[in-house]
Amino acid sequence: MPLTVTTTIAPADIVRCQAIRRTVFTLGQGVPVTIEVDGRDPGCTHFLAIRDGVDVGAARMRVVEDAAKAERVAVLADLRGAGVGRALMDALEAAARRQGLSRVKLSAQSDVVVFYERLGYTAYGEEFVEADILHRWMKKPL
Ligand SMILES: CC(C)(COP(=O)(O)OP(=O)(O)OC[C@H]1O[C@@H](n2cnc3c(N)ncnc32)[C@H](O)[C@@H]1OP(=O)(O)O)[C@@H](O)C(=O)NCCC(=O)NCCS
Repeated sequence: MPLTVTTTIAPADIVRCQAIRRTVFTLGQGVPVTIEVDGRDPGCTHFLAIRDGVDVGAARMRVVEDAAKAERVAVLADLRGAGVGRALMDALEAAARRQGLSRVKLSAQSDVVVFYERLGYTAYGEEFVEADILHRWMKKPL
């Protein structure tokens, strides 16, 4: 099945990414709307995964100091394990490189540290709690 990832800052696409995030984080994981909707979307680059014309995943990149910070990486539950998350992160890393950034960092939910490890990320520091979910910091040089 054809999978594409659109790199975008268009408001209409951001709304589509927010819909995926609402399903995955707010409804799926119980993350409070006040945390999920943080007002930073207009300043981020967004990535929208589309499979057979249907929106299936989203992520965003925020530039923090000299690093790309990957945030809100989300794939609809029925579509997991099929390479959508990897395709989103590939697009994010390509966008970071185009902007001249040399590293990506992220705070990973502890349950999915192995997903990021498969993509070349390394965990560092102690576990911490964010939105009632355990996290680890992770990083990858580009
Ligand atoms: C984490 C998430 C984005 C992964 O997306 P996905 O589309 O299922 O991932 P992929 O199919 O691209 O997997 C890529 C690799 O990671 C592995 N992987 C994916 N999810 C994994 C998990 N939960 N645990 C261990 N390995 C995992 C895959 O087996 C695959 O490995 P391989 O290339 O060696 O075969 C998705 O599960 C998700 O949206 N989870 C809920 C939201 C969430 O936790 N987001 C992360 C916030 S930090």
